[in-house]
Amino acid sequence: MKIACIGAGYVGGPTMAMIALKCPHIEVVVLDINEERINAWNSDTLPIYEPGLLEVVQAARGRNLFFSTDTSKHISEADIVFVSVNTPTKTSGIGAGKAADLTYWEGAARMIASNSKSSKIIVEKSTVPVKTAEAIGKVLSRNCSDPSVQFEILSNPEFLAEGTAIQDLMKPDRVLIGGSDTPSGRAAIKALKEVYENWIPSERVLTCNLWSAELAKLTANAFLAQRISSINAISALCEETGADVQQVAHAIGTDSRIGNKFLNASVGFGGSCFQKDILNLCYVCETVGLKEVAEYWYQVVSMNDHQKNRFVERVIGSMFNSVKNKKVAIFGFAFKKDTGDTRETPAIDVCKGLIQDGAICAIYDPEVSPEMIFRDMSTPKFEWDKPNYTKSASRFLENVLIGSSAEDAVKGAHAICVLTEWDRFKDYDYKAMYEQMSKPAFVFDGRNILDHDKLREIGFIVYALGKPL
Ligand code: NAD
Ligand code: UGA
Repeated sequence: MKIACIGAGYVGGPTMAMIALKCPHIEVVVLDINEERINAWNSDTLPIYEPGLLEVVQAARGRNLFFSTDTSKHISEADIVFVSVNTPTKTSGIGAGKAADLTYWEGAARMIASNSKSSKIIVEKSTVPVKTAEAIGKVLSRNCSDPSVQFEILSNPEFLAEGTAIQDLMKPDRVLIGGSDTPSGRAAIKALKEVYENWIPSERVLTCNLWSAELAKLTANAFLAQRISSINAISALCEETGADVQQVAHAIGTDSRIGNKFLNASVGFGGSCFQKDILNLCYVCETVGLKEVAEYWYQVVSMNDHQKNRFVERVIGSMFNSVKNKKVAIFGFAFKKDTGDTRETPAIDVCKGLIQDGAICAIYDPEVSPEMIFRDMSTPKFEWDKPNYTKSASRFLENVLIGSSAEDAVKGAHAICVLTEWDRFKDYDYKAMYEQMSKPAFVFDGRNILDHDKLREIGFIVYALGKPL
């Protein structure tokens, strides 16, 4: 059997590396139009930072795992083609700012159709609006010149989270496969299920119809994000009442019906998917006339925006209502720890908010390059997926400094804002940092990871999310 995967990104790369590792009898080729990305996958400096990924890639690369830009050859030879291309939010036209942009998906489908000389199973790995398989089916069948070639489409959404991708792929809670209830549909489901059963217990490989699988992915992300917005809403109430959001989260999380995961109040959720997928869900609801349902889910995104704004207002308000010309050290720019990914990171909105009030943000993140920070700070919302982004917001760049280290970022700063929960931030010598800062020195802990009592003892004025002030 030969598997090809179109899209060598955060999902395509790690997912295929795991399949290759666990199925030495299957040849797996990961394809991309981005040559630089493919070269990086073929080197020891992988294009994405993910703990444990390099070891998995090195174990299988050159044996049965390959990375290539030769899309036509490998698509034509494959029995199963995964499509794991980006599906960002549309930035123009109908549905701009909400609907999923399926340009890349459609491009991949056309590429499959024109390069297929034998029947294939096509696997939707990307997160897509419900009913996409139907649209893709039309593109595939009407663009393939050989009528004997059949395409069976499956939906196999990915649930991995960045930073824990390898363990999520190694031991997933479940793998979901949706397909048609026809003889060829059932055969395709069986074939894909067998691939996963090389390392995943069969009871964890769930099967369902195509539309349920597509919708389950959007729903899972909507529910996860909803928990964060819910606890973040409560964090605002805690600050007004003297309750402590971590104590509240612990108290409710011990109820087994609620569970204790995903209840960390934060400066806001980020990442390439939560916002995009909820907006996509809202748009699907609107297009079928379910306005109230769309509005319900939209509140999850609104509350997230509110949380980021609230944090900015807290920083400015605490620092005597102005941060003009004040240096603010930003600890962490990635959207979460253990990743270098900055897509939709709350740090962008927080830094832009502070800069709008005149602050100079000295940003330090152990895994994010200065180029990426400059790019993010000059890219309009939703435009980050565009290769040639417009530099319309570049005025922000004048107030961005890059800290070569956390110590460098705090020199002369009036405040530290913790925006990513990197473990190493807990171990810094805050006493030494305090000596280097302008006074009064503030700490705004947007992730609640620091020892606040100790910081207060040192002399810092500390604001912690959802904690008594
Ligand atoms: P990504 O941007 O990192 O990777 C997508 C890749 O596809 C890019 O390298 C791009 O060059 C390539 N591509 C686009 N069109 C192509 C074409 N026609 N031929 C060959 N290559 C092409 O995106 P990602 O983060 O891997 O996400 C992919 C999909 O998976 C999205 O739908 C996303 O919602 C979903 N998803 C992402 C995550 C995550 O943690 N990032 C988790 C679960 C699901
Ligand atoms: C999320 C989901 O967890 C994955 O299951 C899904 O496959 C993926 O989206 C996707 O579809 O892209 P990811 O975005 O990589 O994964 O990371 P998460 O751990 O979910 O964190 C998302 C954001 O929420 C981060 O900014 C994180 O800091 C924040 N978060 C998370 C909180 O603020 N509080 C929490 O309790 C948990």
